[in-house]
Amino acid sequence: MVYQVNPAKKISGEIKVPGDKSISHRSLILSSIAEGESEIEGLLEAEDCLSTMGIMRDLGIEIEKKAKERYTVKGKGLDGLEEADDVLDCGNSGTSMRLLAGLLASQDFYSVLTGDHSLRKRPMQRIIGPLSKMGAEIWSRRNGLAPLSINGQELSSMEYKLPVASAQLKSSILLASLKTKSETVIIEPAVSRDHTERMLKGAGIDLEIKADRIILKEAAKRKLNPFKIKVPGDISSAAFFIAAGLLAESGELLIKNVGINETRSGFLEVVEAMNGNLELLNRKEQGGEPTADILVKASKLKGCEVSGEIIPRLIDEIPIISVMAVMAEGKTIIKDAEELRVKETDRIKAVVNEFEKLGIEIKENKDGMEIIGIQTVEGGIEVDSYHDHRIAMSLAVLALNTEKGITINGSEIISTSFPNFKELLLEVVK
Ligand code: S3P
Repeated sequence: MVYQVNPAKKISGEIKVPGDKSISHRSLILSSIAEGESEIEGLLEAEDCLSTMGIMRDLGIEIEKKAKERYTVKGKGLDGLEEADDVLDCGNSGTSMRLLAGLLASQDFYSVLTGDHSLRKRPMQRIIGPLSKMGAEIWSRRNGLAPLSINGQELSSMEYKLPVASAQLKSSILLASLKTKSETVIIEPAVSRDHTERMLKGAGIDLEIKADRIILKEAAKRKLNPFKIKVPGDISSAAFFIAAGLLAESGELLIKNVGINETRSGFLEVVEAMNGNLELLNRKEQGGEPTADILVKASKLKGCEVSGEIIPRLIDEIPIISVMAVMAEGKTIIKDAEELRVKETDRIKAVVNEFEKLGIEIKENKDGMEIIGIQTVEGGIEVDSYHDHRIAMSLAVLALNTEKGITINGSEIISTSFPNFKELLLEVVK
């Protein structure tokens, strides 16, 4: 789908972004294995989460839509899932595949997980390796690629040091460990999003976090209590509007009810380092997660370095940070972000290629990129989404700051995480 985005000088208004994608996936999965009925409000009704929902239904779970973004899930406990009679399709969603592989590895039945052409190229060995150490039987195509074929087994617990700071990997192991009896210890090289830990604890699981260690305590038989959750707005979706508001010549934008969990909010720290004018108002706690309304004002940004421990806390925001860097005075360096190469697409390559098409000077490094701003971007050409929602939305925000606008091909992929992105953008452009 071709998407034309025209330049804009003023961004203002008040908006709400859809529910957090990571929390939505986890709400669906954990409520399915809880004992009784859970209620989810504010669920992200986007393709990635609908893939998880479809799979939980295929595994015999009753999920009922009560109203827009409101669902009840009749959880059947840790032993209540049933074998599906077909392959389970994760679509474009790495979170679905990695988390569900962990869950299904310990079930007493056979499952096959597959996904779209992008997901079938993403590394799954990172979960197959540790899950196999626990006794899981998982087959993949050569090089650890999906489809994954899983012959569910009784697993044993382990102590495992993650080779990469990945919340998907950590969550996959935690889900696989729920049916083991002894203690599981996961050691993180750097903090990554902790929604699984928060939700498991909230559902009554004995989990302890001690510095870089996540300890699932020994238990004769674990059980999850059903829960009610209100999913906060997704900071990774809000980031596109924060950037649009900061880069505009004028205007004030209020984004209501955004999750600001510090394992996710590295982007806000970068905005501050870049001199962005942003205020957090009305701080609250919702669904076990901190939230705030974010007030963004047009700003004169300066470049900065983004590297080290902050990377996993803003990993999905790096494409939009690279857009901000083009319009920021001075040098921005993004390092230690090699993980970007194995996201929905190689996000370093995608940004570099499309920026170069637009005449933007950018240096590609193995683990990131360097951009010196401020650069004037003429636009007036077509660019590509690389079948990656965050690349498409980043290019849309860049387009607002060009002289002639940009045409983005393959924009339908935006609906994997942010179905009403285009409507909201039109609403705030003044
Ligand atoms: C996610 C974790 C991150 C992130 C992805 C969602 C999650 O991936 O990029 O969009 O919900 O756990 P990694 O854990 O592979 O870094």
